[in-house]
Amino acid sequence: METKLSIKINNKIYTTIIGKNILNKVSKYANFKNDILNIIIIDSKVYKNHKNYINKIFKNKNSKKIIFNSSEKSKSFESYYKIIKKIFYFKPDRKTKIIIIGGGVLGDLGGFIASTLLRGLDLILIPTTLLSQVDSSIGGKNGINFYSGKNLIGTFYQPKLVLIDISFLNTLSKRQIKSGYSEIVKHAVIKNKKYFGWLEKNYNKVLNLDKKYILMAIIESIKIKSSIVMKDEKENLISKNSRALLNFGHTIGHALEASNKYKNNLTHGEAISLGMVCALKISNKLKYISNKKIDKIIGHLKNAKLPTNIESINLNNLKRFIIQDKKNFSNKINFIVLKDIGNSSIEKNIPFAKLNKFYLK
Ligand SMILES: NC(=O)c1ccc[n+]([C@@H]2O[C@H](COP(=O)([O-])OP(=O)(O)OC[C@H]3O[C@@H](n4cnc5c(N)ncnc54)[C@H](O)[C@@H]3O)[C@@H](O)[C@H]2O)c1
Ligand SMILES: [Zn+2]
Repeated sequence: METKLSIKINNKIYTTIIGKNILNKVSKYANFKNDILNIIIIDSKVYKNHKNYINKIFKNKNSKKIIFNSSEKSKSFESYYKIIKKIFYFKPDRKTKIIIIGGGVLGDLGGFIASTLLRGLDLILIPTTLLSQVDSSIGGKNGINFYSGKNLIGTFYQPKLVLIDISFLNTLSKRQIKSGYSEIVKHAVIKNKKYFGWLEKNYNKVLNLDKKYILMAIIESIKIKSSIVMKDEKENLISKNSRALLNFGHTIGHALEASNKYKNNLTHGEAISLGMVCALKISNKLKYISNKKIDKIIGHLKNAKLPTNIESINLNNLKRFIIQDKKNFSNKINFIVLKDIGNSSIEKNIPFAKLNKFYLK
């Protein structure tokens, strides 16, 4: 049985379904028709590991597959061009549906393609990494990277359906599972203390993909993320419920990814784990949160075997990426701080020098 969540954004509602072995539900929920072209863009590793499962569902002659080799480096303008060239070969029209089966990289790239092709085609997201199931498939942000920073080109574009099938996770590496877990911790610490307590108790079961626990974590994370997005789809920096809160750990995390040239030796979740530790340290120096509480969160990241050592991080080396962050205006930084476990807020208009001072202090 699948769990169904309705997400309402600006008076438009779409459905997210979550369960195990539920790929066969896609046709019913996405309302497939025999005379409408479905373009399915699939991550090559996912296709290799789940070929029979996918082919069983997408077998009619109007289902055209594009297999894509994704990595953070491939979230680029070159990939956008390569994929749309392939899509045009299939002669899409305004009724064509774009179906993405892959992680956050392909989801972000494919979402941008769907939102721009013929001025917007129906998008169906089938996320296959833990990170994309708990975070990137929800909320309608898409985009590609530019050399000067992460996700600098993109749109807000809500999908018609998100189908989360945890059976895909069985072939995901432990490292990628931990990477997704980093965003789960983020959701808990910015919004829900009780959830953080639950994670402290049950993180091993979540990381081991124990069905009951992984489903609970995915559902709880989606509820937190969607409740924030529903109030502020386009990140208007309204103080209390701004979507920007979801960016906790991302100002520095994204800068780490960009300065590392999006290489695979640092996953998004790993960068965010380090970015959260930096943000916790800054929140503590700003006297918002006690040592004891930040140690509790960092201890949890360590237990989950996520990277937490920030000694070698020098904000001066990351300055140009930090300044380029999309939350900022006029070279002043808007930074997400933690006031308590489960309570985050935006610290607005911080000059870089001040941020750096609190980081060094
Ligand atoms: N749009 C948003 O709101 C949002 C939110 C958070 C993160 N993101 C973005 O998400 C991206 C990271 O996503 P990700 O961590 O899913 O990375 P990813 O898409 O690169 O996937 C990680 C690796 O796992 C492989 N893979 C995917 N599914 C698999 C499966 N089921 N079995 C085996 N291997 C599989 C991929 O080929 C890749 O090598 C970043 O670019 C980040 O910026 C976007
Ligand atoms: Zn993220």
